Formats: sequence, C-alpha cells, structure tokens
Amino acid sequence: VVAGAAGGIGQPLSLLLKASPLVDHLSLYDVVNTPGVTADLSHISSVATIDGFLPADGGLKKALTGADIVVIPAGIPRKPGMTRDDLFKINAGIVKGLIEAIAETAPEAFILIISNPVNSTVPIAAEVLKKAGKFNPKKLFGVTTLDVVRAETFVSEITGQKDAAKTIIPVVGGHSGETIVPLFSLAKPSVSIPADKLDALTTRVQFGGDEVVKAKDGAGSATLSMAYAGFRFAEKVIAAFKGETGVVEPSFVYLPGVEGGDEIKKATGLDFFSVPIELGKGGAEKAVNVIKDANDYEKKLLQKAYEGLKGNIEKGVEFVANPP
Ligand code: NAD
Ligand code: LMR
Repeated sequence: VVAGAAGGIGQPLSLLLKASPLVDHLSLYDVVNTPGVTADLSHISSVATIDGFLPADGGLKKALTGADIVVIPAGIPRKPGMTRDDLFKINAGIVKGLIEAIAETAPEAFILIISNPVNSTVPIAAEVLKKAGKFNPKKLFGVTTLDVVRAETFVSEITGQKDAAKTIIPVVGGHSGETIVPLFSLAKPSVSIPADKLDALTTRVQFGGDEVVKAKDGAGSATLSMAYAGFRFAEKVIAAFKGETGVVEPSFVYLPGVEGGDEIKKATGLDFFSVPIELGKGGAEKAVNVIKDANDYEKKLLQKAYEGLKGNIEKGVEFVANPP
C-alpha cells in the first residue's frame, strides 16, 4: 500500500513499485486523485496488480486489507523558510490517523514512514500502535534512505567513484539538519576526503533537503530522489521478507525493540535512532552499533544530533499521550 499515493513522492514511488517484480499487488490510497493515478499505472504490463481508493466508502480500510507493507508519504511538504518541524502541526494528525487504521486493519504489516518530520512521526506511530496493543518494533521504520543516497552521491563527486551506490556509507541519527550524521570514516570501501572538504560535505548531506526546497522555490521538496530512496528501502524490506539474506540499510527505529538496540539506546540516551539495520523475514532483525566506531570529528556531530533528536522524539510521544 502507498498512503499518499497521488502526491509528489507518491506517484513516482507507486510507479517504481508497480514496475518491481517483487510486488504482487499494489493498493493506492490518497484523499484525492487516486482513481487517475491507479488507471494510469494499471496499463503497465508488470507483475503487480493494482487498485486505488479514496476515503469514501471505507476506502482506507479496503486499501489496507491484506497488506504486507504500507509506505506512507502522506502529508504536506516544506516551502522555503520552513523547517521540517513546521510540518508537525498538520502531518502529525495525518500520520496518527493512518496508523490507527493500520493498527485496526493491517496490524501485521511493515510500516515505512516517509512523512516529515520523521524524527517525530515515527514516535507518533509507535505510540499509536502501543496504545492499540499492536506495536511490533521490528516492523516500524522511519525512512532515512535519502540521506544515505545523498551521502553516496555527494562523496562520489569528490572521489570520482563512478558507481556512487557501490560505496556503503552509514548515515545515522535522525532525518533533519544536524540530527543527520554521515559517518564517512566508516565508508566501505574506505574513502579519502580532503580535510578542507569534510565540513562542506557533511553540511551538504545534513541540509541536502534545503537545497531541493530552495531550487523548487515554493513548489515543494524532494519528490523524485525520495521516490527512488523510498523504493530502494521498500524493495530491501520486501526482499528480506521474501528470504534474501545479508540485507542491511539504515533506518530510524525504536531501539529497545530491536536486537542490539539497547546498547545504542545506552550510548545515545534515545529510544529512536537511525543506524544500519539487518533486515530479515521478521523485519528489523538487528541494529548495528556503528556509532561506537565513529571518529572524534563524528562523535562531536553525534552529540549535537542526540540533543536535537531528544526534543523531536518527546514532541511525537507527547502528541499521542496528550492530544492537542
Ligand atoms: P505532496 O503534497 O506532493 O503529496 C502528499 C500527498 O499526501 C497528497 O497527494 C495529499 O493528498 C496526500 N494526503 C494528505 N493527507 C492524507 C491522508 N490523510 N491520507 C492519505 N493521503 C493524504 O507532498 P510530497 O512532496 O509527496 O511529500 C510528502 C511528505 O514526505 C512530506 O511530509 C515531506 O516533507 C516528506 N518527505 C520526506 C522525505 C524523507 O526523506 N523521509 C523526503 C522528502 C519528503
Ligand atoms: C528531504 O530531506 O529532502 C526531505 O526531508 C524533504 C525536506 O523537507 O527537505
């Protein structure tokens, strides 16, 4: 299921999912325009069958029935001058509503949250699922793949590596500004970044979203690169679910619920954090503690990330505990 399927991310993401041989059936849900997007994609001669729903006549319930995986890019995007946190007011309620419906109709589904601010919408989702008695932390993911994709791309512009995605760069923390921490010292294979370029490279990964918001000049934020990143992460979750082994990708998860997470919670003081996750049939099988190997430069960045994340996470938890 794609929830928010008619939007800037939703449409290209749905296109990639419709074309993927790993997808058997695709259900599109949005509050507007799903019939058109569904009709359009239905002409593609791929494996996946497709249907689409609007809210009328129990459309959300119909879309979610039998779902194995729900990807959520529903919600408003930034305009120049806005932070991701400025989206909280509207997107918190959208995510809450969708998660309540998932808890009721598709409690076993993997849930991939793209809607910003991810640092708060994932805690909101966790709290809603906990309240409903349906929380499986191994199946709830905040999608931070775009930060990884950006790190791969921007570093390759310095190193000259042609196939950028072949360098694995752990990007950890959260998904906004200084909460995003690329760990270039742990790149595999290792990369050599001139000292005078490291600050700018790090800042570019942390604030890559702003670059797109500014260039789009009021017409939204990253949609196409996000669709690529969201598809890459969804495909990995599906592949691992279908039995592929050795699948690892960073994601923002609830640490106490994932093996290896307690150690990272102890180091960060946080319940939610993005680290490389070993994916398996059940979802997040293991959180890999890469932060212990960060160098001194990166450890300073990490401290700032912890501070920023703390408030973002609390805000999400509070939203469910004491609804406004
Ligand atoms: P958009 O406005 O183009 O599309 C959002 C879609 O959500 C619209 O079609 C809208 O009708 C739909 N929608 C609104 N309320 C809904 C509801 N209750 N149920 C279902 N659908 C609903 O926005 P976009 O550019 O696609 O961005 C979507 C979200 O993704 C934003 O919050 C944006 O900040 C976020 N985003 C996250 C990342 C990331 O890395 N995680 C990257 C880019 C964008
Ligand atoms: C991004 O990183 O591109 C997204 O989170 C969208 C944004 O608001 O920058």
